[in-house]
Amino acid sequence: MFGKKMMIECKDGIVQLKPFQMEEIANAKVIEMMADAEVTQYLTMVNSPTIEDKEDWWKKTRKEKNTIVWGIYLNDSELLGVTSLEITSPNHSAESGFLIFNKKYWKKGIASRSHIARTFYATHFLNLKTIISGVFSPNIGSFKALQSVGYFVTGYRLGSHYINGKFKNIINLQWVNPKYADLVLEDGIPKDIVLDSALNLAKRTLEIGENEVVF
Ligand SMILES: CC(C)(COP(=O)(O)OP(=O)(O)OC[C@H]1O[C@@H](n2cnc3c(N)ncnc32)[C@H](O)[C@@H]1OP(=O)(O)O)[C@@H](O)C(=O)NCCC(=O)NCCS
Repeated sequence: MFGKKMMIECKDGIVQLKPFQMEEIANAKVIEMMADAEVTQYLTMVNSPTIEDKEDWWKKTRKEKNTIVWGIYLNDSELLGVTSLEITSPNHSAESGFLIFNKKYWKKGIASRSHIARTFYATHFLNLKTIISGVFSPNIGSFKALQSVGYFVTGYRLGSHYINGKFKNIINLQWVNPKYADLVLEDGIPKDIVLDSALNLAKRTLEIGENEVVF
């Protein structure tokens, strides 16, 4: 299914997260962008999707009850990427995903700002207590964007995938809703995990979401 429309400012204008039509993703332009190895190198994909693959994905997504997907836009741009929350346990946890397939829009703060809106949605509409994500070690942009809203490192999957001729680690990240931190963390916190600053960032993210995300 698709998520409700959300808007949040970034330095180049307004980021919009909203539903999109099949033709916006299942077209030759997007297929060309998805064939660029740099775009998909940290997505565990070794293939290039076709228009038919994207049609199937869109149709499946539309009917999916546990995964919420948004198209990403900047101002009046065409669809430039997609983001998702896959609910793994209702009212409790999800796994987040993010992709800007149009490289022209990288490094403009779109991921960092979208993560504020998506995280706010996760608490405001879904009452989620925790979100997880996995990032390949060289994917600094993704790591920084997630960390900026309060995701913290919980561990590693060493040599998880073979990318560009080398084995790479996946860094496991987690976000905890500060409102439910005592509940989520009742089993204790391993001593090598540093949480205080992450929980402060998570709290700040929800405050920014409350004030700046427009539905
Ligand atoms: C990785 C990705 C999500 C980053 O999105 P983005 O909108 O460019 O990220 P932001 O502009 O919000 O950048 C966040 C921070 O990372 C930095 N950054 C972004 N891309 C970077 C890169 N390639 N190398 C180093 N730093 C980078 C930014 O400068 C910014 O730093 P700051 O907070 O100190 O200012 C985007 O490039 C993308 O979709 N890539 C392809 C798919 C992918 O890798 N998805 C994530 C899978 S986990």
